Amino acid sequence: MCDCVYIYPRQWAVASSVEGGEGGGQRKQGQRKQSSRAKVSVSMMGPLPLRRRRVGVLFLALVLLGGGGADAGTTSSYRRKLEATVEMPLDADVFRVPPGYNAPQQVHITLGDQEGTAMIVSWVTANEPGSSTVAYGEDLARMERRADGAHTRYDYFNYTSGFIHHCTLRNLKHATKYYYAMGFGHTVRTFWFTTPPKPGPDVPFKFGLIGDLGQTFDSNITLSHYESNGGDAVLYVGDLSYADNHPLHDNNRWDTWARFVERSVAYQPWVWTAGNHELDFAPELGETTPFKPFAHRYPTPYRAAGSTEPFWYSVKVASAHVVVLASYSAYGKYTPQWAWLQAELARVDRKTTPWLVVLTHSPWYNSNNYHYMEGETMRVQFERWLVDAKVDLVLAGHVHSYERSHRVSNVAYDIVNGKSTPVRNADAPVYVTIGDGGNIEGIADNFTRPQPGYSAFREASFGHATLDIKNRTHAYYSWHRNHDGAKVVADGVWFTNRYWMPTDDDTN
Ligand SMILES: [Fe+2]
Repeated sequence: MCDCVYIYPRQWAVASSVEGGEGGGQRKQGQRKQSSRAKVSVSMMGPLPLRRRRVGVLFLALVLLGGGGADAGTTSSYRRKLEATVEMPLDADVFRVPPGYNAPQQVHITLGDQEGTAMIVSWVTANEPGSSTVAYGEDLARMERRADGAHTRYDYFNYTSGFIHHCTLRNLKHATKYYYAMGFGHTVRTFWFTTPPKPGPDVPFKFGLIGDLGQTFDSNITLSHYESNGGDAVLYVGDLSYADNHPLHDNNRWDTWARFVERSVAYQPWVWTAGNHELDFAPELGETTPFKPFAHRYPTPYRAAGSTEPFWYSVKVASAHVVVLASYSAYGKYTPQWAWLQAELARVDRKTTPWLVVLTHSPWYNSNNYHYMEGETMRVQFERWLVDAKVDLVLAGHVHSYERSHRVSNVAYDIVNGKSTPVRNADAPVYVTIGDGGNIEGIADNFTRPQPGYSAFREASFGHATLDIKNRTHAYYSWHRNHDGAKVVADGVWFTNRYWMPTDDDTN
């Protein structure tokens, strides 16, 4: 079922502690440099007769024109050490079951409505159902409010899940810290979150951008680096646990992943996108219900967004309107997702939420040979709408490398005019591929060459990004590479808003 490529087969390496994984031999910088197009051209201009030199010059000009050469971006020369990523062992401390009988575990929260006044709290109890009630309040000592949820469970081949609880806290105040607790009757655990500020045009907010995280030592580094960067919520672009890479889609790996990320997602909402590793479609195991584990475990506020399925929906956070699309649900003309997106884009109010951000799993602009053009059919279906709507940013995962595009569009083609080359377009979004969380499938270290004109920056490393919205006109976007021992900003740009300040921010 694995759809990516392991770099090297290798034995499992068990570090003495999970924290030790951060320095676990990933720091060495590879020396391999990619040949630049200019170098190739210079070597062609060697001691040739004049006529052949002219041919060489002509060839160079054609390459530069045809390949978008003058616009071509940067392929970073940085290379992580090429070795497969290693799953953290089951007895790693990040996977530890919390102590106490029937203790709530795998606690996570996500937004419960479109306005930031509700929060869905989810957790698992292993021994018995216990209580689905959450107590919460602004005062840790009192937590006088109560919300009642419900539990569910599912079977997957030879696995039966624990009791999966979901409870929605409503009528919350904006920008307010709430304490919350669950596990009544047995072991009570307490957490806290801060609700997002009320949506408004100049409300600052800092998102973390993470994708394809998995549960390897590299995943742990990515999450630690994000935590140290201090975002307020995560836009997660799909592929969570990679349980399906284990024999029989070992769903215990869904449990370990949720315990691993609890340290962040119990304290701030993560906005979920469904990836291909959430499908868990395995007819050979008799499992033919797509998204069964994911849908049982990770609810979304889709009804509040007028959607009919949990895999496509939207939320408003501070000054951002975030639209989540589903790469692995139908999106052709007249399908529910198509109809919903058309109506949703018409509902966006840039005067209240100036920043329009779209999440999807399979990238539309990706110059890596891994998963190359897998997002093309969705691009063809929806790109015109996104350009017309002046979307600021499209985030995707799936490809286990980092890439940022120029503002380009490719919407002129009408099957007879031959206009099939992406062109610079100030109305178009920037496309970012952030599927570099560090999962078990390893890095996607095989970019197409030459670098196409739409690609501004690309690098085969693990990391995460942040989108730091300052006001209605400016946001600072930065990508943080893992492999310098500490997090390092390897790519950072200022975005200007496409609705309020559509200036040329496409300068690097
Ligand atoms: Fe994927």
